[in-house]
Amino acid sequence: MEKRFIVPILVVAAIFSGCELANTLDDVDLATITDIEYNKHVQPLLDQKCSACHGASVAEAGLRTDSWENLVLGSDFGGVLLPYRSSKSLMIRMVTDLAGGSHLTTVGADSLSQTEVDFLKRWINEGAQDNSGRVPYEDATELLYVANQNDATVSIIDTESNVVISLVNLTEHGFTSGSKPHHIAVEPDGSFWYVSLIGDNTVAKFDRENMLVGQFSFETPGMLAVHPTENLLFVGRSLSAQSPPRSIGVASRTTMEVDPVDVFFARPHAIAVSGDGSHVFSASLAENELIRMAVADLSVRFTSIGGASHSIVQHAASPFSSVMVSSGQLTNQVIVFDVTDPSLPAQVDLIDVGAAPWHPVFTRDGQFVYVPNKDDDTVTVIFVDALVVREVISGPGLSQPHGSAASKDGNYIYISSRNADGAYEARHDFGDGGNPGTVSVIDISSNEIIKVLEVGSFAVGLGI
Ligand code: HEC
Repeated sequence: MEKRFIVPILVVAAIFSGCELANTLDDVDLATITDIEYNKHVQPLLDQKCSACHGASVAEAGLRTDSWENLVLGSDFGGVLLPYRSSKSLMIRMVTDLAGGSHLTTVGADSLSQTEVDFLKRWINEGAQDNSGRVPYEDATELLYVANQNDATVSIIDTESNVVISLVNLTEHGFTSGSKPHHIAVEPDGSFWYVSLIGDNTVAKFDRENMLVGQFSFETPGMLAVHPTENLLFVGRSLSAQSPPRSIGVASRTTMEVDPVDVFFARPHAIAVSGDGSHVFSASLAENELIRMAVADLSVRFTSIGGASHSIVQHAASPFSSVMVSSGQLTNQVIVFDVTDPSLPAQVDLIDVGAAPWHPVFTRDGQFVYVPNKDDDTVTVIFVDALVVREVISGPGLSQPHGSAASKDGNYIYISSRNADGAYEARHDFGDGGNPGTVSVIDISSNEIIKVLEVGSFAVGLGI
C-alpha cells in the first residue's frame, strides 16, 4: 500500500522541484538575460550560494542574503553593496579580491562561476534594484559625507541605518586623483553639499544626486561652514599650506562666486559660525589670534590669546550661542570662550584633553562637546555646564581621529579616522596594502562605539 503512494508523491515532488528549477537558475542563462528581475534571477542565485550561511537560522557576520530588504541592511559591520559600483561592493570584493582566495573557497562552499560573478556585478552596476525597480538607499534622507583625502573620493553614510550607501569618485567629475577632498559642508535642508579640494585649489558644489553643479577657485581651501540662514559659504585655508593668502573666503552658494576677506594674520584655518549667525570665527595657526568677522559688514577683528602657542585647528560653537571651544593642537588643550556677545569673545577656561585635539563638535542639545585627539587615538567628552571632562573614549576604529559630526536625531557622534598608520586593521585583506579610513559611530547614551564603518583612504572632514 505504502509503495503505491510513494510513487505518485515522488512524481509530484519531481514536478514541484522541476518548477523550482526555473527559480534555482539551473536552466537560466545569466549571460543572455536582458532585463534583470531580482526575484527571478538574483535571489535564487544568492539562495543557492549564500543564504545557507547568511539566512534566517544562521546569519554569519550578521548578514542575510535571503531577501533584497535583508541584503541592503548589510552586515553587523556595515553595508555590503554600493549601488552602481560593483568594484567597491563588499559582497563582490569578497569573491573576487580577497588576498587569501575567494570567500566561498575560504568558507568551504560552492564557488560562483565567472558568469555568476559577472551577473551579480551587472545587477549592482545597474543599481542593485529590487523587483519594483527600487534602488537601495534612494529614500535615505539624513546623510553624512566623508572626505577621503588620499583617494579623491567622498563616502556617503545613511545616519539612520549607519551604512555606507554611496561613493562619489571626484575624478569622474573632472577633478584630479590628487584633488585631496578635505572638508564638507551641507545645506541645512540637505539639497547641496560643498567640498574643499586642497590639491585642486577648488571648492566644488554637488547636488543631492551627487552631480557637480558649481565650483570656484580658491587657493588651498580647508575648513568650510555654511551660514544657517544667509546665502553664504565660508572657507578657511588648508593646514598643509605653509604660507597661504592671509584671507578667508566668503562665497555665494547660489552663484558660487567667492570674495577673499583679509584677516591679516598668517594661516587662517578654523571656520565656525556663531550660534546666532552674526559672526564667523577663524584663527591663525601661526599666532595665538582668534579672528572674528561680522556677517553683516564683513568687518574683521581679533582677540589675542595668552600663553603657549595653541595653533588652533578648529572651533565648535554651541547651537545656543554662549560657548565656543577651540582645539589647540600644540597645547593639547581646548580653549573655552564665552561668546554670549559674539563680537566680544572672552576666554573663560582651558581644558586639558588628549594629544593633538582636532575637530570638536557639540551634541545637538549643546550639553556635551566631543573632541577627537589625533595623536592618541581617543575622544574626550566635555560636559559643557561644568566645563569638565566627563569621559575619554578609546576603542575600535579610532586611529588618528580627525573629523566629527553629530547626527540630526541627536543619537550619535561620528568620528572619522585617517588611519594612515594602519593601527586599525581592515576587516578583510584585499592585498592592496591600503589602510581604509574609518568612521566610528558613538552612541551618545552610552558613549560606546557601536560600529566602525570602513571608508576611503585618509578619512578627514565630515559634513552632515
Ligand atoms: C559556508 C558558509 C558561507 C557561505 C556559503 C557564504 N558565506 Fe559569507 N561569510 C561567512 C562567514 C563565516 C563570514 C564571516 C567571516 C568573514 O568575514 O570572512 C562571512 C562574511 C561575509 C561577508 C563580510 C561581511 C562584513 O561586513 O565583513 C560578506 C560580504 C559575505 N560573507 C558575502 C557572502 C556572499 C555574497 C555569499 C554568496 C555568494 C556568501 N557570503 C556565502 C560564511 C559564508
